[in-house]
Amino acid sequence: MTAYNKPDHWSIRAQKEGYPARSVYKLQEIDGKFKLFGRNGARNSAGPLRILDLGAAPGSWSLYILKKFGQGVFLAAADLSPLSLKASQLFSGANVFFVQGDIYDETVRSALLEKGPYDAVISDAAPATTGNRSVDTSRSLALAEAALSYGEAGLRAGGNFVVKVFQGAGTGEFLKRIKERFTGAKSYKPEACRSNSFETYYLGLGKKD
Ligand SMILES: C[S@@+](CC[C@H](N)C(=O)[O-])C[C@H]1O[C@@H](n2cnc3c(N)ncnc32)[C@H](O)[C@@H]1O
Repeated sequence: MTAYNKPDHWSIRAQKEGYPARSVYKLQEIDGKFKLFGRNGARNSAGPLRILDLGAAPGSWSLYILKKFGQGVFLAAADLSPLSLKASQLFSGANVFFVQGDIYDETVRSALLEKGPYDAVISDAAPATTGNRSVDTSRSLALAEAALSYGEAGLRAGGNFVVKVFQGAGTGEFLKRIKERFTGAKSYKPEACRSNSFETYYLGLGKKD
């Protein structure tokens, strides 16, 4: 077992708390710090909070949202892979919608955008890594750009956006694009990110009209 895949504090905690992935603590920290859902105008006055979760499998972010808001949320999610059993069991009511498919696919995109507009679009989508940093960062940036295009088309004015990016060529320009479209834009690396990883999260707070 390498140091990278050895279970760490966060993975052990996730297992104990019933989450399929340690990534839940990244979203929890970002949400705690920036009040992604339900504050800063990121909530419609009527109806449930509407959230779109891209790259959702195995389902920790979705579980966090469903645990936090229960029936007070409509959650749409997509991933190439299926959700874990625990997450998929929660994806059975009228307030949830999961598509197993590629977020670049037009049919997947239409199906998800049809369920909007959303109060928040969050994306933890990441490519399968190759170990070649420039290949990995450019694939990650392409996914992040696809997520931003969902935010542009599917977020209501005032809505919030969070996206994972592997830092590298082009990510500075990408953050500038977020700044143009949102009242606030930030780069934030939660503590639960592995210290040696080059992933970070970009946030767009308050989509401009
Ligand atoms: C780090 S995992 C997400 C973990 C998830 N947020 C959770 O809390 O369980 C990244 C996910 O991105 C998904 N992904 C990568 N490329 C994708 C694509 N083109 N369309 C949909 N999902 C994609 C992968 O299948 C993988 O499940």
